[in-house]
Amino acid sequence: MNATSSFPAFAQRHLLGIASLQPHEIEQLIDLAEAEVAVGRRRDKKKSTLKGRTQINLFFEASTRTQASFELAGKRLGADVMNMSVANSSVKKGETLIDTAMTLNAMRPDILVVRHHSAGAVALLAQKVACSVVNAGDGAHEHPTQALLDALTIRRRKGRIAGLIVTICGDVLHSRVARSNILLLNALGAQVRMVAPSTLLPRGIEQMGVEVHRRMADGLKDADVVMMLRLQRERMAGSFVPSVREYFRYFGLDSDKLKIAKPDALVMHPGPMNRGVEIASEIADGPQSVIEEQVEMGVAVRMAVMEALIGGPEDTV
Ligand code: NCD
Repeated sequence: MNATSSFPAFAQRHLLGIASLQPHEIEQLIDLAEAEVAVGRRRDKKKSTLKGRTQINLFFEASTRTQASFELAGKRLGADVMNMSVANSSVKKGETLIDTAMTLNAMRPDILVVRHHSAGAVALLAQKVACSVVNAGDGAHEHPTQALLDALTIRRRKGRIAGLIVTICGDVLHSRVARSNILLLNALGAQVRMVAPSTLLPRGIEQMGVEVHRRMADGLKDADVVMMLRLQRERMAGSFVPSVREYFRYFGLDSDKLKIAKPDALVMHPGPMNRGVEIASEIADGPQSVIEEQVEMGVAVRMAVMEALIGGPEDTV
């Protein structure tokens, strides 16, 4: 067994979206993440696969859980991790995205984890730097590690992805989580449904290979997984829903609506949740909820992604 044998070749340099992954690469990352779950449950959670490597988390948009998850993942792999919240720094002084990227690039990081409010910004940045780049969410475009952690959570609970009915409900229009999940779940053979009011459905969403419903009763029938999305009020210009109360009544997941899905359906939410808006508190904390498990899987998936992109034996020079 040689030193690299635990690192099956991963052909990509960056992780910019699920769209650029082949189904076998998605499976490879989920398999690797499965092994990292065990690492996170050990007393000694430290590995050395990124020892001596520099990871910079470059967040142009506020984030708590995703940034913490990437930070912990990097630390568990032995990397030196630096967090930069750019929302309140040089960008305000007029520096562009590319200037910031070039400055950081000159510090020779090995991996940049980037979140940005504009779709496509992370891919643009990846063209300008010498290191690997992971998309931690770009506008309403993609959030690939979220879809991977959702898939890992589902696979561990249901034993498979193929053939499952997964219903994604809520603010699909503003959701990078929905887009990445549609791409991943379709690639692995699940049947994907959307439920949302017309105002929160992107035009042409059917072309992504999903069934579209406008009533929870139709979309939830026989569902194996119910994935709720946050109503992204900060991204809403104008009014997309008449009122929060009205929204909860028709599109919020409560116990009556959940009964329409399979009795053992999983309830998921990427967080942060608006309790009483898209999900009732008793459902979020109820026996079918795997929301906390998703958070645990998040660290495992991010470890797997970074290990696949830049992990390996130490330099020989
Ligand atoms: C998601 C995001 O930022 O896209 N959250 C997250 O990654 N923790 C979903 C959301 O903000 O609703």
